[in-house]
Amino acid sequence: MPLRLTKTRLLGVAALAALVAGALPAVTAAATSSPTITKDLFGTMPDGTKVWRYTLSDSAIRVKIITYGGIVQQLDAPDRHGHRANVVLGFPKLDDYVAKNNPGPYFGALIGRYGNRIAKGTFTLDGTTYHLPLNNNGNTLHGGPKGFDTKVWTATEVKSKNAVGVRLEYTSPDGDMNYPGTLKTAVTYTLSGKSLRLDYRATTDKATIVNLTNHSYFNLAGEGSGGIYDHRLRLNASRYTPVDSTLIPTGQLAPVAGTPMDFTKATPIGARIRDGFQQLAYGQGYDHNWVLNGSGFRLAAEVGEPTSGRVLKIYTDQPGIQFYSGNFLDGTLYGTSGRQYRQGDGFALETQHFPDSPNHSNFPSTVLRPGQTYRTSTVWSFSAR
Ligand code: GLA
Repeated sequence: MPLRLTKTRLLGVAALAALVAGALPAVTAAATSSPTITKDLFGTMPDGTKVWRYTLSDSAIRVKIITYGGIVQQLDAPDRHGHRANVVLGFPKLDDYVAKNNPGPYFGALIGRYGNRIAKGTFTLDGTTYHLPLNNNGNTLHGGPKGFDTKVWTATEVKSKNAVGVRLEYTSPDGDMNYPGTLKTAVTYTLSGKSLRLDYRATTDKATIVNLTNHSYFNLAGEGSGGIYDHRLRLNASRYTPVDSTLIPTGQLAPVAGTPMDFTKATPIGARIRDGFQQLAYGQGYDHNWVLNGSGFRLAAEVGEPTSGRVLKIYTDQPGIQFYSGNFLDGTLYGTSGRQYRQGDGFALETQHFPDSPNHSNFPSTVLRPGQTYRTSTVWSFSAR
């Protein structure tokens, strides 16, 4: 039975890759490539646990994923001349991730149990009030101080003719960071052609809340090459969720029209970032959730870098996307290639449910109950023009 499930899922991936490829003229047919997967030892945790790095390669894209935090440690993508560069921010060594990624930037990491903020770390579910540990200005950010980004996940390789992947599993015990329920979580990264697909699954044995995402920072000119303010961003979103001074949503769904939050047409990230708009002052730049238009699996975001021609398209079935312009990078961290990361040197686009949903009855629900399966998928599709 597991074999049958695996086959079915991979057929789904191949079909999706074909769909995405069909929409992108620059993508070569996935059928002509034969992707590979290799594994090496990335490091050892202080308690002796080994951390593995999986390298998924197709003709154009190469991505490296480590079992610590399920982190995307490197992602090489070609420019318009076929020259590859690493387009994600990260660190060269495990020790750097353990010491500097949380508290810190969460480079490349899987985020759980709850991506982004929960006000005062408090929520009420079925009449019981839960208090999570606080780690961000009196609120809980990205699951709490010991979130899924700090766990060593169990990895299984997944292969088919046109795709390679790694399935990562982590079981979060009942009461972990004070969340109710044992949460069995699986995240599968699958590379097919020029698309990396992220499939998230979770089940629980008690009613709980879940909001998983990946916190990669991109720089399509190459990691460590400078700022991302000239990247052109388009978001498939007419509304966003404004925040207070601690970046907690007010509960409104506000129109982007007429504000620097309007990315309905491709616009350089930096074009309006210093306009004096109050929302941008709170986050020291963009650090907001956009309410994606439509529903079902659809295009959420498209980013293009003019010099290299690299383009990233993000597809998801989620209701929201957090666009964060790397505002808190302050020059204290040195990345994968040894270069200093300063403010605006990378951007994150985190597909998600809205921040603080458990405290806003007008936001889509993040409750997961026993017998239900949390499922969501996101695709990062790379091309060049
Ligand atoms: C998210 C948050 C930001 C910041 C980064 C990590 O994007 O919304 O405020 O915490 O993670 O630095």
